[in-house]
Amino acid sequence: MKLKKGYFITFEGIDGCGKTTQIELLDNWLKSLGKETLLTLEPGGSNLGKDLRQILLHYEKPVADTAEMFLYLADRAQHVNNVIMPALCEGKIVLCDRYTDSTAAYQGYARGCDINQINMLNDIATGNLQSDLTIVFDIDVQTAQLRLGKTKDRLEKESVDFHTKVKNGYLELSRLYPQRIKTVNANRTIKEIFSDVKKLVGELLNI
Ligand code: TMP
Repeated sequence: MKLKKGYFITFEGIDGCGKTTQIELLDNWLKSLGKETLLTLEPGGSNLGKDLRQILLHYEKPVADTAEMFLYLADRAQHVNNVIMPALCEGKIVLCDRYTDSTAAYQGYARGCDINQINMLNDIATGNLQSDLTIVFDIDVQTAQLRLGKTKDRLEKESVDFHTKVKNGYLELSRLYPQRIKTVNANRTIKEIFSDVKKLVGELLNI
């Protein structure tokens, strides 16, 4: 059995919540402290995943909810096996933009797929690999919508009602797993939000 030596930190939130800016700031900060990191994302963090991302975000014909769920899970299975686990075994700090909680929030709470089944399928796809820390960037849906560009992808085009369900899904997940999932108020400046991120990650890594 492979032994995980590094740390696994995931970033979550609705589209337009600002998590990608924050994960890049965190990566730079950790590197400046001499830490070895791997910055990656879902969907699209592996070679197979790059093709799946293209389908997931830009496929123009209707996609069944369960087909969408299995495509995200396929991306995750490949990503964990080929990218995340090897980096963790080398002792790296893996920073991942979206992971299992995205499937629970989007396909579960928003699309209505069964949460217990999603949990079970996530466990299969990841070989039970959970994050050590997940930061949810909680933001007003309207503010997040304004941040999205004009050319929206398949998921970004969903209604305000859909994104509100995703947001509430994340809040429910953070209530269910308070040890692992920490929520940060993302309705503030980049600097203020990053100071909370540094505090949470600093506590995990003892820095
Ligand atoms: P990104 O734009 O943050 O890279 O995320 C891609 C989109 O995919 C985003 O709208 C959220 C969605 N998504 C899911 O619906 N389920 C998942 O499991 C993941 C990882 C992402």
